[in-house]
Amino acid sequence: MKRLVILISGRGSNMEAIVKACAAEGWPASIAAVISNRPDAGGLQFAADRGIATAVVDHKAYASRDDFDAELARVIDGFSPDLVVLAGFMRILTPAFTARYERRLLNIHPSLLPAFTGLHTHERALAMGCKVAGATVHFVTAELDHGAIVMQGVVPVKPGDDAKALAARVLTAEHRIYPQSVRWFVEDALVWSGDTVQHRDGAPQQLLLS
Ligand code: GAR
Repeated sequence: MKRLVILISGRGSNMEAIVKACAAEGWPASIAAVISNRPDAGGLQFAADRGIATAVVDHKAYASRDDFDAELARVIDGFSPDLVVLAGFMRILTPAFTARYERRLLNIHPSLLPAFTGLHTHERALAMGCKVAGATVHFVTAELDHGAIVMQGVVPVKPGDDAKALAARVLTAEHRIYPQSVRWFVEDALVWSGDTVQHRDGAPQQLLLS
């Protein structure tokens, strides 16, 4: 059984999707803990209600990113995870942290990387007149929103969309590609080739929604 630690900062809907899929589909994995950098993150209650260990490492209590990341790593390592899953975790991580979890740290980002790294992805996609949008699950490296892509979910941009409507459509794709990606990791189905990652049996690494 692989052990997962999931990091959140807010409502935690991606965390919920992973927890539910892990239970329903009988993955060879268990959720060792859900950790938030914000004491008021809505997702903590969902995890606690399911009997999952929770912890808070409040970034405001630390003088530097290095100090925060060191404490975060100490708490994470207390749960001995095989995989650390960033699910709406809204802190930039130091190179020391990303190196510590190299090839066992996943993130989901609400754009089709490498387009629109950083914040306000949906507003920027709309401003550019993009006709598709989406989300990307990727391994985390020291460079923000880079790292090997595990899976991408693509949705149409529809006439009249505002950022809220587009975010909601992208989120439906997120809730499918993130559990799938984590499942592949726990099943050892991901194979590295240089700096990129493929599915062992060539399973499609994109989801196209209409
Ligand atoms: C998701 O849309 C996720 O892609 C995004 O935050 C949201 C979290 O929602 N992540 C980032 O922007 C990371 N840079 P959730 O808390 O309901 O999973």
